[in-house]
Amino acid sequence: MAKAKDRLGIGLLGLGTVGGGVGQALIQRPEHLAEQVGCPLVLRRALVRDAGKRRSFDLPPGLLARSVQEVVGDPDVDVVVEAVGGEQPAASFLEIALRAGKPVATANKEVMAKHGPRLLALARERGCDLRFEASVGGGLPVIALFQRDLLANRIAAFHAIINGTTNYILTRMDQEGLDFAAALKQAQALGYAEPNPADDIEGTDATYKLAILASLAFRTQVYPEDIHREGISRLTPRDFRYARELGYTIKLLAIARAGQTGLQVRVHPAFIPQDWLLAKVDGVFNALQVEGDLVGRLLVYGRGAGPQPTASALLADVIEIARRLHGGLPPSLPPLPGPGLPLVPMGDLEVRHYFRISVADRPGVLAQMASILGDRRISIASVIQKEADPQAGTAEIVMMTHPARESAVQSALAELARLEVVKEIGSWVRVEA
Ligand code: NAP
Ligand code: HSE
Repeated sequence: MAKAKDRLGIGLLGLGTVGGGVGQALIQRPEHLAEQVGCPLVLRRALVRDAGKRRSFDLPPGLLARSVQEVVGDPDVDVVVEAVGGEQPAASFLEIALRAGKPVATANKEVMAKHGPRLLALARERGCDLRFEASVGGGLPVIALFQRDLLANRIAAFHAIINGTTNYILTRMDQEGLDFAAALKQAQALGYAEPNPADDIEGTDATYKLAILASLAFRTQVYPEDIHREGISRLTPRDFRYARELGYTIKLLAIARAGQTGLQVRVHPAFIPQDWLLAKVDGVFNALQVEGDLVGRLLVYGRGAGPQPTASALLADVIEIARRLHGGLPPSLPPLPGPGLPLVPMGDLEVRHYFRISVADRPGVLAQMASILGDRRISIASVIQKEADPQAGTAEIVMMTHPARESAVQSALAELARLEVVKEIGSWVRVEA
């Protein structure tokens, strides 16, 4: 059994939004943290890129480090906290720490989604913990949910709003009628968006988080490239208006569902019924709705980003690691993924669809469209003609379908776009219900 420790040193990699939140909490609430662990936690070193940068709080002198080796190699650093972000050098930093036998808590979704299995295997080999609660959903305890609380359940599905930036943008578009570009500008001004906002708006950030959650929930290794991904930039305020008229709202969802043929994993905008709890998750808030066979439907809701909520999750991991070190206990790593479920090709998906299509306003147009859909066994549930523009001679067709195969829907959209009477496929959105 490992030797128990009576004072534990923390080495921080990164002292930005998240690392700064962790550093501040370590300095400002030592008694509370010591009580949780059973011994004091002491901030020993902090790695930054620019040692001259002004920080939002006062760091005790002499703690700044210029290389990862300075942090990991410090014999007084017992736990490493990674809040650097991005794939590299963060992935190498984690590897260096684990090879040195230092347990790690990380907030890095990209590294865990792309390199998680390799790093967890390394942690196992080196006999140290690697925890990643803060990598998904900021302050929401969603990793612990699948690693511990729901282990007795067979998970049927989960739907998650796990990107605060896009949820903020969609909420502004819905509630204030802003267009996409104006809403994005607001999100950037408020500091919600990633340095490269494309990661948020094109759904990449959500695929990293979905890969991590689906791998845990379904004991199936899912990588970001396995996930079908669509962003939110094709949506307009009109789509929100029509959605509301039809009894829905639009959210960017990360969805995993286990069915008879395997596991679906996808990130895309979706119509959800207004009476779903997820429909009420607005602004930068995140939520995860899970369906387990014992627990039924469960919703976790809260702040998915920001220094304090993310520090809450990172420090929960640090406390768990520190308790084990203090008690001389072995690490607690998640079980290896099982044989896994096959992943269902996107073309096999069968859900309802909303289409918004701009057409020439003249007789016979609907018949041409209905024929293309009918040929592909896509059944129309409702059609409304909207906002005819007499000057341009165009009308907007808003259509809902019955459940239809994705491959048929994509083929129909391509064929519709070729019709002379179709001016534009404005948008199409899948319906979750
Ligand atoms: P951030 O504000 O940009 O901070 C990054 C920190 O890492 C900075 O202190 C930076 O140093 C340091 N750093 C960057 N590259 C480095 C390098 N090559 N060598 C040494 N230090 C380096 O990022 P953040 O928002 O805190 O995000 C950190 C991680 O937390 C990311 O994985 C992110 O996805 C995750 N996360 C963030 C949030 C959030 O709300 N921001 C929420 C959940 C998870 P300088 O300060 O000197 O520039
Ligand atoms: N850009 C991310 C979001 C930060 O908007 O949710 C938290 O991972």
